[in-house]
Amino acid sequence: MNETRVIEVAIAGRPYDVRVGPGLLNHLGKECGALLRKDRVPVVTDANVAALYRGAADAALAAVGKTARWLVLPAGESTKDWAHLASTCDFLLAEGVDRNDHVIALGGGVIGDLAGFAAAILKRGCGFIQVPTTLLAQVDSSVGGKTAINVPMGKNLVGAFHQPSLVVADTDVLGTLPRRELCAGYAEVVKYGLIDDAPFFTWCEEHGAALLAGDPAARIEAVSRSVAAKARIVAADEFERTSTRALLNLGHTFGHALEAETGYSASLLHGEAVAIGMVLAARYSQHRGEMSEEQAERIADHFKACGIRAELAELPLACTGAGLVEHMMHDKKMDGGTLPFLLMKGIGETYLARDVDMDDVAAFLDSELAR
Ligand SMILES: NC(=O)c1ccc[n+]([C@@H]2O[C@H](COP(=O)([O-])OP(=O)(O)OC[C@H]3O[C@@H](n4cnc5c(N)ncnc54)[C@H](O)[C@@H]3O)[C@@H](O)[C@H]2O)c1
Ligand SMILES: [Zn+2]
Repeated sequence: MNETRVIEVAIAGRPYDVRVGPGLLNHLGKECGALLRKDRVPVVTDANVAALYRGAADAALAAVGKTARWLVLPAGESTKDWAHLASTCDFLLAEGVDRNDHVIALGGGVIGDLAGFAAAILKRGCGFIQVPTTLLAQVDSSVGGKTAINVPMGKNLVGAFHQPSLVVADTDVLGTLPRRELCAGYAEVVKYGLIDDAPFFTWCEEHGAALLAGDPAARIEAVSRSVAAKARIVAADEFERTSTRALLNLGHTFGHALEAETGYSASLLHGEAVAIGMVLAARYSQHRGEMSEEQAERIADHFKACGIRAELAELPLACTGAGLVEHMMHDKKMDGGTLPFLLMKGIGETYLARDVDMDDVAAFLDSELAR
């Protein structure tokens, strides 16, 4: 039985497929097909992923007569910087990559964002193929064409929109992902249910724990439904010009403030911050009288049932609500003095509020910190 699911990202003029299923890495050469024009194929990855999957990727490319040419970068967020962008571009130039060639990004969001940005600027743009290996990358960062690096002024501040030509998401590789990374990626899965798909949130309540425990069918279902949701939103608003694509930032305004407060350190992963951020968005919506307590607590309860931290008060923070609001005001999504906020009228009913009073947010956060 062929379990591969194919989701099209219908970007005008440049549609591409996201292929989701078990074992796809073992057929990587075949999956990429005619996109690989030359015998040598540049593959950018990190050291952790190379240790686990370099052999499989080598074999899969060799099976179609290709030789992988590896750039193995250090694992971790700090690789998404100017220095590694430069070394990636130099590597691709040394490999003789042309505009019509494709670079393979094999790894999590760090590798996808970095290699994707290098592809965006190499000879004014060459092709790239995302082979995401974390849950976060499979359900979020590999789809949609946002690429970037971090700079001293902040995260993801230098980058480009550059869509991949193909995404190959092998759900089997999630089996080696540390549980903490899996849970962080899962927060973004839940996000799609909360944005506009209440039945998917219910599916998460029923299958989330199984997914995190390694259930293969649950992984395929979660990744393909998440990708379909992201594909729909991205196709409607490729460049985040309307509020449609902004919906993907549910929980992120609160989440980014928490990441900033913890210094973007390993003590709080992005997805962990987003899980708490979504609970805060729900409770703040409730505080404004827009969402029922029952619905807001269903979200917190689901994360807790999965063993994911959902309470702001559980973070070892020494700050006030006003301190967190201060971080939000520095958020790059600040729009002419007002901070648009993604709030909920219910599960699956996220909307962009433009009338949020930041003093009220600060007071609300104080009550959550003391909860
Ligand atoms: N472009 C976008 O739209 C977008 C969206 C969300 C996040 N991001 C970016 O994504 C990045 C985070 O991505 P991430 O969470 O994938 O982090 P990551 O790439 O750092 O991967 C997390 C860790 O898991 C390891 N790893 C990867 N695959 C593995 C596997 N199969 N088995 C075992 N270990 C594995 C990595 O080596 C790393 O140590 C951030 O830089 C963020 O800004 C981008
Ligand atoms: Zn996110």
